[in-house]
Amino acid sequence: VAADAFDPDDLIDDVCVVLLAGGSGERLGSTRPKAFVGLGGKVLLAHSLEVFEAHEAVDSIVLVVPPEWEGPAEVLVDDLGCERVSSIETGGSSRAASVQAALAAVPDRRGTAVLVHDAARPGVTPAVIERVLGPLAEGFDVVVPVLSVADTIKRVHPESGEILETVDRVLLRRAQTPQACRASALHAALRDLGERELGALTDCASAIESIDGRGTTVPGDDALAKVTTPADLAALERVYGAGSAGEHADGDEDSDEDLDEHDLAGHGDFP
Ligand code: C5P
Repeated sequence: VAADAFDPDDLIDDVCVVLLAGGSGERLGSTRPKAFVGLGGKVLLAHSLEVFEAHEAVDSIVLVVPPEWEGPAEVLVDDLGCERVSSIETGGSSRAASVQAALAAVPDRRGTAVLVHDAARPGVTPAVIERVLGPLAEGFDVVVPVLSVADTIKRVHPESGEILETVDRVLLRRAQTPQACRASALHAALRDLGERELGALTDCASAIESIDGRGTTVPGDDALAKVTTPADLAALERVYGAGSAGEHADGDEDSDEDLDEHDLAGHGDFP
């Protein structure tokens, strides 16, 4: 859907990244939070942090980490020489609660774009950052990178599994991150929401949809896949570990050892 004629109010003059690393990563089965496990010789969150730090469109980065991980995050930011990290915030009990916490460090204005990204998606690229920022300048409130759905999708009874209907997959897309939001829209969508309402939100776009914000989609990328299980991490280790002579290729157990060799672990202040 094309936006209306050019409106100077739609211009974006400030881009702030909210990098979400506040999850525990229970499904990964690691002793440390998911964003701090090793991948290809660095911590998972370092992969996306470095891409945002290096992108010229990015003015500031707010990093969100679990309680007690603010110190290690600060050490990591210093180690990587990330000058655009403006603040490290403590995450909440759900993804959306962590976004709400991050907004304390994001100006509530229409001309600021917020790129909300899962640190659990290490494959963010400069191209997808540019794709999601584009439509904001046409007046959209939120832009989501998406992929089409290859499988046939059934709506079923949640307990019995009985088929209720087959959903037309032409209408369906899988939502990824980074999602680009107007800061004013994201502030308005999350303001005053309690823990329960926040817990029900699985992305930022759905919050903005709920206040009738205008959203659109751009092509996502298979490389933006989210690390959830040990198998996801092992598969990515084969990709990212390839550059280091395959020594990291055995999956998550080695990954934690890799992390211990990382500078960050040498500081000894992991909780
Ligand atoms: O758990 P899941 O993989 O869906 O989380 C998606 C992203 O949201 C991750 O990068 C995770 O660190 C972040 N998150 C967060 N605070 C939470 C839960 C998840 O920042 N309470």
